[in-house]
Amino acid sequence: MAVPQKIRQEVDELRRKIEHHNRLYYTFDAPEIPDADYDALLTRLEKLEQDYDLVTPDSPTQRVGAEPLTQFTQVTHENPMLSLSKVNTEQELRDFEARISKRLNDPDAIEYSCEPKVDGVAVSLMYASGVLERAATRGDGVTGEDITHNVRTIGNIPLRLQLAKPPERLEVRGEIFLSKQGFQRINTRASEEGRKVFVNPRNTAAGAVRQLDPRNTAKIPLQMYCYSVGLVEGMELPDSLSEIFNELEGFGLPVNPERQTLKGIDACLDYCLRLLDKRNGLDYEIDGAVIKVNRLSTQQELGNNARSPRWATAYKFPAEEKSTRVIDVEFQVGRTGTITPVARLEPVFVGGVTVSNTTLHNMDEIDRLGLRIGDEVIVRRAGDVIPKIVKVLYPEKNKNPGQIVVPTRCPACGSPVEKDGEVLYRCSAGIICPAQRKESIKHFASRAALDIEGLGDKLIEQLVDDGRVNNVADLFRLKHKELEQLERMGAKSAAKLIAAIDKSKATSLPRFLYALGIREVGEATALALVNHFGDLQPIMEASKEALEEVADIGPIVAQHIETFFANQDNRALIEELIAQGVSWPVVEIDHSAQALKGQTWVLTGTLEQMSRNEAKAELLALGAKVAGSVSARTDCVVAGPGAGSKLAKAEQLNIKTIDEAEFLRQLQELKTK
Ligand code: IVH
Repeated sequence: MAVPQKIRQEVDELRRKIEHHNRLYYTFDAPEIPDADYDALLTRLEKLEQDYDLVTPDSPTQRVGAEPLTQFTQVTHENPMLSLSKVNTEQELRDFEARISKRLNDPDAIEYSCEPKVDGVAVSLMYASGVLERAATRGDGVTGEDITHNVRTIGNIPLRLQLAKPPERLEVRGEIFLSKQGFQRINTRASEEGRKVFVNPRNTAAGAVRQLDPRNTAKIPLQMYCYSVGLVEGMELPDSLSEIFNELEGFGLPVNPERQTLKGIDACLDYCLRLLDKRNGLDYEIDGAVIKVNRLSTQQELGNNARSPRWATAYKFPAEEKSTRVIDVEFQVGRTGTITPVARLEPVFVGGVTVSNTTLHNMDEIDRLGLRIGDEVIVRRAGDVIPKIVKVLYPEKNKNPGQIVVPTRCPACGSPVEKDGEVLYRCSAGIICPAQRKESIKHFASRAALDIEGLGDKLIEQLVDDGRVNNVADLFRLKHKELEQLERMGAKSAAKLIAAIDKSKATSLPRFLYALGIREVGEATALALVNHFGDLQPIMEASKEALEEVADIGPIVAQHIETFFANQDNRALIEELIAQGVSWPVVEIDHSAQALKGQTWVLTGTLEQMSRNEAKAELLALGAKVAGSVSARTDCVVAGPGAGSKLAKAEQLNIKTIDEAEFLRQLQELKTK
């Protein structure tokens, strides 16, 4: 059929537009048009392709179009896909440079390309005349599997290179990965839908690229970064890897923006340490840095070992997952009586700290893991997140498994344990349970609450066990004499503690409200309540409906607040605290509260003057929303040291970014307006 010129032009234009929006959406997370408009473009293109028989493999309509396979085809890599040698220490990295210097004619100031070692799955992409022809896994390095049907679904991999005269063949290699945000998103959905959650981003990505049905792969928001080229035909390569990266980027291929070209091993080491610092702030997982000789001629001079090139090495970071054994599971009673299972572990060094116990959250989590006492498990600690058991290893190897059973009586006070909702268990005793008492006093004295310096957890436990303190009001009745008699407490520390307790009486209303330990009322909610109502009395009298008018308070939290203040014991305790001298300055309702209404802010990197929570509370109180990721809708990004991809993205999108000092200055200004 002769296809009218006009139709051909429209098809070309539609493909160009769709790929442009794909890049904005997948690479920059900054869509310019609503999803519905994008869908309309795609539908129109599909129709024209069908009507005029114009389907080509590089058309954006073909990203999820393929039929499921029954098996994978094998692919032989024309140039083998090598692995990397590793180093773990500064000395080993210096040895690496010493080793290569010895082999070189001109070993002076070697230039390196340094990149993050992304924790994902290696892939080879073959572009024939600029069109993605085949994608393959690494396999054993010589033979991999054809995963073209799945790789087509990956949004930031171009199906056609942006090149007027593309080379006959260009093989690009890189790492397919799942971002931390993407991982969280699909896991939230999985648990909402009652499906099994994924263990970690790497395994999820590895599973996703090995699906027979590409529609399953398309559900996982995978991405890719290129890190080398393989076979090249019909194209002159530049002299160095860094120049290759720039060219690939020009072709529309994704290359890691964290890459740097540096001279000498000291600068590389510096890069590794800076990257380690940034690790938590990046939106994808890395397990180290890769240091590669930059000049291709020098790479050739050095050549390869059997499995890895001599000209590159991986500087490994501490592992974020390790295996260990569950010695026992105990049940802890929290501030509000919730009974939480806690696993005691054989101590293991993971994510930079030694972990010997970890919460299991609830019985559902235990069922999901299929966990029994004595099991070997994978413990994960990524960033400063609390360690977590993510998987049971070889359950069949546990010859004497211990079942984990919820106690029928509270381990602290012996009162009956009640079921609360689907998965929670609670001690039925309320505040007379010593464990609940201890936890609520610890909370009351904690840094973000009344901030009683020197009143640590151990001391609180001792005071409750001795019967000297039964509730938080008792703290203000403590006498120097009785403190002095306690173990490891001299006259001086007793006097200091009495002074600290006394000092804590002059507090602020948000702190006091938070200190009361109302369920689900954190610092930000306490501040929002105070900003809305201005004083304690109106909060105590507020109806559920009135409470729900406060930003960020929904029906559940409103119910908890109402229930708390409806309890006469709680009211009596508040009166007693006030009688003991706890006080706060009158709150002027903050009329600046809406100064940032409608705005979305993002916090990234480390803040030094305040905690993330405090910063968030301040922003919420000013009416702003605080989001976890940067998009075109972000109004401002506050970036502290160690800020990574979020900052990079904000800069790409031209979004205002400020440092902490500027943030504090602006807060001050808004609050004094
Ligand atoms: S270069 C010959 N660069 O790490 C060079 N690899 O342990 C081969 N990886 O199989 C690899 N990020 O899957 C290189 N920036 C990076 C990388 C990287 C992740 C993976 C890759 C490779 C494995 C080697």
